[in-house]
Amino acid sequence: MGGGEKDKETKINLANADSSAYSQSSQTNSQAKNQANPSNSSTPSTSATSAAAMANVGIEPQKEKKEIEIVKLFRKYGLFINSGAIEELKEKNLETILEIIKKLKELHKEDMAIVSETELKEVTQEIKLPGFADISRPSDFRPLAKEFGHDFKIHTERDITGKSKCGGDIDDFVKNVNDRFMRIKSILESRPSHNQVVKLERAKSQVGELIRVIGMVMRKNVTKKGHLSLEIEDETGTLFILILKDDKEAFEKANKVIKDDIIAVDIKVGTNFCMAKDITWPDMPVKAKKTIEKDLSIAFVSDMHIGSKYFCDKEFERMIKWLNGMGPHKEIAEKIGYILMAGDVADGIGNYPKQENDLVVKDVFEQYKLAQKMLELIPDHIKIIMIPGNHDAVRLAEPQPALKEEMIGKLPNVISIGNPGFANVEGLEVILYHGVSLGSITANVPGLTPAKPEEAVVELLKRRNLAPIYDENDIAPEHSDYHFIGNCDMINTGHMHKNGYTEYRGSVVVTSGTWQWLTEYQVKQGHVATPCVLPIYNLKEGRIVHLNFAEEQIKIL
Ligand SMILES: [Fe+2]
Repeated sequence: MGGGEKDKETKINLANADSSAYSQSSQTNSQAKNQANPSNSSTPSTSATSAAAMANVGIEPQKEKKEIEIVKLFRKYGLFINSGAIEELKEKNLETILEIIKKLKELHKEDMAIVSETELKEVTQEIKLPGFADISRPSDFRPLAKEFGHDFKIHTERDITGKSKCGGDIDDFVKNVNDRFMRIKSILESRPSHNQVVKLERAKSQVGELIRVIGMVMRKNVTKKGHLSLEIEDETGTLFILILKDDKEAFEKANKVIKDDIIAVDIKVGTNFCMAKDITWPDMPVKAKKTIEKDLSIAFVSDMHIGSKYFCDKEFERMIKWLNGMGPHKEIAEKIGYILMAGDVADGIGNYPKQENDLVVKDVFEQYKLAQKMLELIPDHIKIIMIPGNHDAVRLAEPQPALKEEMIGKLPNVISIGNPGFANVEGLEVILYHGVSLGSITANVPGLTPAKPEEAVVELLKRRNLAPIYDENDIAPEHSDYHFIGNCDMINTGHMHKNGYTEYRGSVVVTSGTWQWLTEYQVKQGHVATPCVLPIYNLKEGRIVHLNFAEEQIKIL
């Protein structure tokens, strides 16, 4: 770039949003050399050197060149930048970009570091939010769902919000376990069997007979010879049961038995021990999948983790705009009448070691303020039923009460309920459960994997309980078992950050993925995630589609 009068006239126009914001008066060439030579100084100064710095790297005013110029500017300071980060910077003025580079250089003392959009969020301390001004519903967007209205009922009797009774003493635990046991026992007793159901205190005396016992599993062990043993308990006593490895069918079932399972076991009573012949879980009754007349759909959104630097803000904005009719596949968006939100709205604070390093918004109230702003942008004709997750600002122990208004605000189309939450939506019995127990069941039932959380949900349905292993889950000993699974046409869980879908005995199972990129902590934990994918289930057709918002081009998977 030349000097003198020509330099003074130079204007810099990096982005297209507000040309005045991007204009900087130039300085003389000598000032430029003194103040903005990155080979002399690894951290750029700010506005005083802006024009010089731009001149130094040859930035030209043309809009179409701004991406290249950002790359050049970063390279000049010994930094690489990925495409997502460039996208973010395109909207910023030069002064801000130089401030950001300065902060990045403080983080990266060494040269040649690659700056990602996630890191950019960290240094800018901001989450990009769409605004109402950004949303312009196209005239050809006619949401059918609006015409249908809503027909739903929250089962408040099954919601812990405002009803917690437990103080955590022994009596509370006894009441909780008894309630759990008696509910499942009555289901098991109703299952047809050739064998008489006998209480455990009488079972041992019926030597030589084939009987059925019902109990809660206290212990499961492998014997020295490779057989399995179970010690079960009912309200009258305990019983030791052996399952021989040669009895393939019974052995395979026993392999899937976990601690605290409540099961019926058909046994042959011997003099010294009882031998299992068959094992029965309470399981779901077999029924047909329910469909409805209205051409309505439910979308599933969970695990946004708003406040995290890994929150997929740009992709979430894309999804919100799509819900407003902006983008392809309008015919799918038009039918969405409900969003089920299965928890982890905000990232919270202190949920895992060094979480503060992953937070862009470190104040939990601010995290929820951002969440409110995003929810406001979801069209009013979409009813949002929301439960909390383990990252949200309610007690950690399940059942968790609903997120309060002072956190999540009050919007006419948002209904905040407890976790687990139970509702009838358009005639379907729906269970919303965040899904913390999916981790423990996956770890304990052979064959399950975090890559297929829907299969873990099926194991919950078989056990008719949302958190079957008591010790391995943080469960408040309420006097009634809030985790009991009664009728279920649809169950939606989050927590595992992995999309999945299956049908089991007429129940639709949807695991709703996430809107957070994998954190380093999650990578260490071996998580598998499918960020920015929106599952949408059509209640008339009984069909699911998954839309991918991870890339600019919204696609059906
Ligand atoms: Fe989560």
